[in-house]
Amino acid sequence: MVQRFGDRDFASNFFTTLRFEGDVLDCEVEGKIPEDIHGTFYRVGGDWLYPPKFDHDSAFSADGYISMFRFANGRVDYKGRFVRTPRFEANLAAGRQLFGIYRNRAADDPSVRGLNSTVSNTTPLVHAGRLFALKEDARPWEIDPHTLETRGEWDFHGKYSSLTFTAHPKVDPVTGELVCFGYEATGEASNDVFIYTIDKHGEVKREVRLKMPYVSELHDFAISREHIVIPVYPLVTSKEWLEAGNIHWAWDDTLPFYTAVLPRDGDAKDVRWYRGSKGAAVHTLNAVTEGNRLVLDAPVSDGNPFPFFPNKDGAPFDPQKAMSTIRRWTFDLGPNADTWHEENLFPQAPGALGRIDDRFIARPYRYAYMGYTDASRPFEPGTPYKSAFPAANCYGRFDMQTRELRTYYVGKTCALQECCFVPRSKDAPEGDGYLIGVATNFPEKRSELVILDAQRMEEVARVILPFRISDQVHGTWAPYEDLPFQMPGKS
Ligand SMILES: [Fe+2]
Repeated sequence: MVQRFGDRDFASNFFTTLRFEGDVLDCEVEGKIPEDIHGTFYRVGGDWLYPPKFDHDSAFSADGYISMFRFANGRVDYKGRFVRTPRFEANLAAGRQLFGIYRNRAADDPSVRGLNSTVSNTTPLVHAGRLFALKEDARPWEIDPHTLETRGEWDFHGKYSSLTFTAHPKVDPVTGELVCFGYEATGEASNDVFIYTIDKHGEVKREVRLKMPYVSELHDFAISREHIVIPVYPLVTSKEWLEAGNIHWAWDDTLPFYTAVLPRDGDAKDVRWYRGSKGAAVHTLNAVTEGNRLVLDAPVSDGNPFPFFPNKDGAPFDPQKAMSTIRRWTFDLGPNADTWHEENLFPQAPGALGRIDDRFIARPYRYAYMGYTDASRPFEPGTPYKSAFPAANCYGRFDMQTRELRTYYVGKTCALQECCFVPRSKDAPEGDGYLIGVATNFPEKRSELVILDAQRMEEVARVILPFRISDQVHGTWAPYEDLPFQMPGKS
């Protein structure tokens, strides 16, 4: 039976479905892969095994797909596999989509009631020698780091109580601690948030339980050496909203934008709630505590960032308000402050998915990297790009000290996915290394991994795959020492 995918253009947009798993050995390369890149670039995203039940569903419902580019001795191998969640296996056994709309069980087939419904499609995490695929509606799913086979749900030896786990945990680069949380921690539409510190061996050491002012998407957060910082923006849900059959989130412009600031060694009573102007910080870059102030850098939008999550007041989606730019928020940690100061650092470079050199998480840092849209460089006419989001055609190195923006432009027929920084060596200075990320080459119908010198922001090599691969949501770099593997010979 041929399954139709509605009237979406699945050839080109975020919903692209590929439905294959595969390996490419010793990939074709343009240029020369630097031999000091030694490790694995893991990527997680979504690829529909079967079409969604509803045309207005979110791309965030697509089945999890994990892939890797493994670098050694100037060579690269590629591997891609579905994340074999219970949902994936149930759908595969039935030969059709059994699950309803994004994170709402109301329209699920009765045969899957009670089955874990995560698609585990958001972020790869490497910690304590293990690899996981993450989605914030469930606990981590452990993946074999070499075969990419799914091992199953992970609960940290029974010590992790939250039913959910953030898609953006933070690994402290000095202590090796994993700081993470789960929201809707005790069930759908609960306002419970459990925050955890897990040591470098993977053992749960601390749990703090919070009640949030309203139930909302807590997608990302940041840590400094001293603090945990959680933006609370009004993409909200409730039991009544879900029982009415709606997609999980809706934007409620009547609610305030909060940021929770909590000492890393503090308790629930130590949380401070700051209030800011309307908008959303879906992702963050980094945070630093400096004496009596805390600085958070993040891509921030002025309104609802997602076209597929409706506005509660019925207002149409506003692409201008959805656009994020890198901003700096400064929090006064003195006794009387309850607001923050916002500075728009790079208004000329809109983008949502920023990264730093992860060795500087929670520490003073200088560089951020982000894919962004240079609207003065449009696609070549006829390029089949259709998406809810504007295409990133540039990677930028954002100098947070001098405010200089150094740019790499990928060309007029390609779109860039989230980038990732790879240090030249363990001890290299900040920013000395490579920036890597997947480009979709539309006319050639294939994916290419671009490798830039991260200081000059110039391309040094491009890995050419013979096909298109599913879009990444997030990726991570695992140096060889963190997850050793059998190395191929020199090319
Ligand atoms: Fe994210």
